[in-house]
Amino acid sequence: MSKYSLADKVALVTGGAQGIGLATARHLYERGASVVLVDLDPEATILAAEELGARAIGIGADVTDIGAMQDVVARAVDAFGRVDIVMANAGIAPAPATVRAMDPALFERVLDVNALGVYRTVHAALPQVVENKGQVIVVASVYAFVNGVMLAPYAMSKAAVEQFGRALRGELAQHGASASVAYFGFVDTAMVQEGFASSVAQRFEATFPSFLRRRLTAAQAGKAVADGIEDRAPRIIAPRRWTVYSVLRGLLNPLLDRRTERNATIQGILRDADKRQITLSSRDGISR
Ligand SMILES: NC(=O)c1ccc[n+]([C@@H]2O[C@H](COP(=O)([O-])OP(=O)(O)OC[C@H]3O[C@@H](n4cnc5c(N)ncnc54)[C@H](O)[C@@H]3O)[C@@H](O)[C@H]2O)c1
Repeated sequence: MSKYSLADKVALVTGGAQGIGLATARHLYERGASVVLVDLDPEATILAAEELGARAIGIGADVTDIGAMQDVVARAVDAFGRVDIVMANAGIAPAPATVRAMDPALFERVLDVNALGVYRTVHAALPQVVENKGQVIVVASVYAFVNGVMLAPYAMSKAAVEQFGRALRGELAQHGASASVAYFGFVDTAMVQEGFASSVAQRFEATFPSFLRRRLTAAQAGKAVADGIEDRAPRIIAPRRWTVYSVLRGLLNPLLDRRTERNATIQGILRDADKRQITLSSRDGISR
């Protein structure tokens, strides 16, 4: 199959002011695409776009607001005439906590941003993507299939995103458009740096095998997405070693679920986490 050229395409990237979104946008830009960055903080987003160059604009919007996302798509079409690619990447991760200890407002906010925010972003852009035989990229995570203990709403949202992307790919084929699901292991961004800052999280991270703990750079994750778009890949998995786990998930998950339930170290960490109430903070996108 011939490559999908990024030259002269228009890509809209949510969560684009930093991290994986900005790093992907940089690769897309360097390969000839115009880029629309969307993120919560308008100034930071405009600044990030200015750093990319003249074929980039930044717009402040919240992906949980369907009207705002429709407006973003309209502004992208005004600026560049079309939208070919939408990358629904904006996401939040709560500080690790058990379901019992997590503020329900935080639990729901994670699902609202990570699952419904992805839907709202994609739905607003679909008319353009279909018209231009373009591509949807939804950002899931290996948490779509590993046990989500202490990160239940995050894992729920990523499993939902995986299903959304798979269904969309089937539905878009009739239009000559496509959808890809991106799965990352750990990527060294603010999300992971802040998420693993607590001692409970660090003790939990230490229970993972070391080869799974190694972090990709945001630039490596962004390159994997840009390569995947050029290939119209159904799945973009980075680092590649997670492909083995994904393929074997039906066999490995029951074993690892049982380990979570029976391993004394993990159960000790969960006992401590159960006592630590985690509440919604302004960083999660809504004020108290
Ligand atoms: N970092 C990792 O290890 C990792 C692993 C797997 C998947 N992911 C996923 O990759 C995506 C990007 O994460 P990252 O690591 O670059 O994190 P990040 O925190 O650096 O960037 C996320 C961006 O999303 C924006 N955002 C959050 N809520 C928003 C909202 N309601 N509307 C608009 N923008 C919003 C944030 O402001 C931020 O700029 C997320 O979906 C995340 O779940 C990350």
